Amino acid sequence: MAEADEAYEAPISEAQIAVHWREEEYYEPPEKFIAQANANDPAIFERFSEEHFPDCFIEYADMLEWDKRWDTVLDTSDAPFWKWFVGGRLNASYNCVDRHLEARGDQAALICVPEPEDQETQRITYRDLHTRVNEFAALLRDFAGVQTGDRITFHLPMVPELPVSMLACARMGVVHSEVFGGFSGAACGHRIADSQSHILVTMDAYYRNGELLDHKVKADEAIETARKEGQEIEKVLVWRRHPGRYESKSPMVEGRDFFVDELLKDYGGQVVEPVSMPAEAPLFLMYTSGTTGQPKGAQHSTGGYLAYVTGTSRYYQDIHPEDTYWCFADIGWITGHSYIVYGPLSLGTTSVMYEGVPTYPDAGRPWRIAERLGVNIFHTAPTTIRMLRKLGPEEPKKYDYHFKHMTTVGEPIEPDVWRWYHDEVGKGEAVIVDTWWQTENGGFLGSTLPALQPMKPGSCGPGVLGVFPVIYDEFGEEVPAGSGRAGNICIRNPWPGIFETIWGQPERFVETYYAKYNREPESKDWHDWPYFAGDGAVQAADGYFRILGRVDDVINVAGHRLGTKELESATITVDEIAEAAAVPVIDELRGRAVEMYVALKPGISPSPEIQEKVSKAIETEIGKIARPKNVWMVSDMPKTRSGKIMRRVIAGISNFTDVGDVTTLANPEVVDDIRHHVQSEKVSSGQVPRELSPEELEEIKRFGQSE
Ligand code: WTA
Repeated sequence: MAEADEAYEAPISEAQIAVHWREEEYYEPPEKFIAQANANDPAIFERFSEEHFPDCFIEYADMLEWDKRWDTVLDTSDAPFWKWFVGGRLNASYNCVDRHLEARGDQAALICVPEPEDQETQRITYRDLHTRVNEFAALLRDFAGVQTGDRITFHLPMVPELPVSMLACARMGVVHSEVFGGFSGAACGHRIADSQSHILVTMDAYYRNGELLDHKVKADEAIETARKEGQEIEKVLVWRRHPGRYESKSPMVEGRDFFVDELLKDYGGQVVEPVSMPAEAPLFLMYTSGTTGQPKGAQHSTGGYLAYVTGTSRYYQDIHPEDTYWCFADIGWITGHSYIVYGPLSLGTTSVMYEGVPTYPDAGRPWRIAERLGVNIFHTAPTTIRMLRKLGPEEPKKYDYHFKHMTTVGEPIEPDVWRWYHDEVGKGEAVIVDTWWQTENGGFLGSTLPALQPMKPGSCGPGVLGVFPVIYDEFGEEVPAGSGRAGNICIRNPWPGIFETIWGQPERFVETYYAKYNREPESKDWHDWPYFAGDGAVQAADGYFRILGRVDDVINVAGHRLGTKELESATITVDEIAEAAAVPVIDELRGRAVEMYVALKPGISPSPEIQEKVSKAIETEIGKIARPKNVWMVSDMPKTRSGKIMRRVIAGISNFTDVGDVTTLANPEVVDDIRHHVQSEKVSSGQVPRELSPEELEEIKRFGQSE
């Protein structure tokens, strides 16, 4: 992190300030769950103790089929670019598809539920998946000319064609980079350019909230954006939501755009041999937001990643091949990659995917799906749980489904929401894991082991097997468990799911994740390289962590990471805007929402048109999910004497919390003006927030500190 802000009042950081957190009671896992759990013998803790690191992870690697076994479990010679299972060779597509053919070729690998309730659910067996993956791989190879090591960008919604495309790439060692379907064409274009993709795979349209959205139009914008950044897309492969019927208004460009369903006719029955890849070969890129600059492409490995998601899916998701597992996330995010596609399919289970929004056409939809398909493991995010609770608190009761296991992931969950999830959605029968981790991590970092550790609402639990977290203060001193003090959560050791680097930016990788607490830059000893996660946390005396949210300038909206810099850059593309600042505001449903503060250029008067232009610009540059809740036009931003915008001050105003000391600002007088303007408008439009929890207060106070 950069040097302390001169106007930041505290000589000692927030990490030093004790907070009185309320301790929640434990919930024990049901006996019935324990009896059938994959991990129900406490001896597992000994096997994964620090003393057995890194060899403990052989247990995960042994869950895969390797073409050649590794020579070295963990190679630290190029620290902190860790290499796992070096010398080993395998293929991820083979492990997720082919190896299950003999025992369960006729079992459903994927069950794909379209959003419209009158459209048929697709049941794709492992044998069907094998056929589809091979045919598309043949097309990619022979028609699109992609080769091992190339990157290729997908901009696909939640349709079966997405996992098929991923596994087709994995089969050939082609690195896929899926961009969340809800992102804009421009956002997709930046990612095409950064990854130097020549091929874009997209779809004409998909259903969202009852509407068939035109998606192919975004491809044209993406290609334009990428071109401006020097990257040319040669071919666009367009899957059709309804094969044979084109639902987009965007014209197909001759010689560039092709319908996949038409091309596939030439590849019927073709088989592409899986390419045996080195364990450390990249499997995919997943772009994510950071504090500054463009999103970074987290590069995940083949062997370490697949071993890690397979092991954690077995022990933490308790997936057995006979289960019907439904992770209600989007494959456009890391959760979907790891825990809809790679982990579950590697274990040979049945993984359910759903195209649309949770509340379409009503808040009973997820429970109808669960009942009809016999789902027994359910996995989703707090934002979805909050929405379902708000719109249909009584709905789960009406349906006859039974979950043995449920997950919450992506943001801190309020204990109250947790309890509704447990009592109503889980009917008191399901165990819950609150899994804390990040795009960069491949798989879970903090969670309870469901049969062996009790749950505690609002806490993710201790570090997972073989992962040893620690909380450091700003000076690198350990903040002890039970002290009630918050600090920066770090992981002391490498684990197989950790990303290998930021695509094309190795210095940024070291700088962002390791420089802060590194003890010796030349060291080859992993003990000297704690991983800085960028989250604030507090550890209770029992070792459980409570995650408080980001310590950098990332705003987590409904589990989606948005960088303040990206939001601000998008905003200043509006002509009238001189300066912009993004802050988070506590939101009942989405966890956090974005508020923009803008200062207009001299001579420009505030108007609703400018506010709308800002929202539009953000939608165009990033996507609808980033649309701000409010755009505040102010005469001047509160600034330090060196001219930096004090985001923590405006964050305090937006959330009706204490703005802290403002006497060191260059222009303290603007604070009252802005407060008056913003808060009186919020009061009159009914936007006064409820009383904030200590965790939320802490997060708002900390916001903007990383500058
Ligand atoms: C937050 C999503 C509290 C955290 C897998 C992290 C959580 C960021 C939890 C990563 C959780 C994720 N409890 N906070 N269980 N899980 N987070 O990269 O701030 O989209 O740094 O990965 O989400 O978001 P990302």
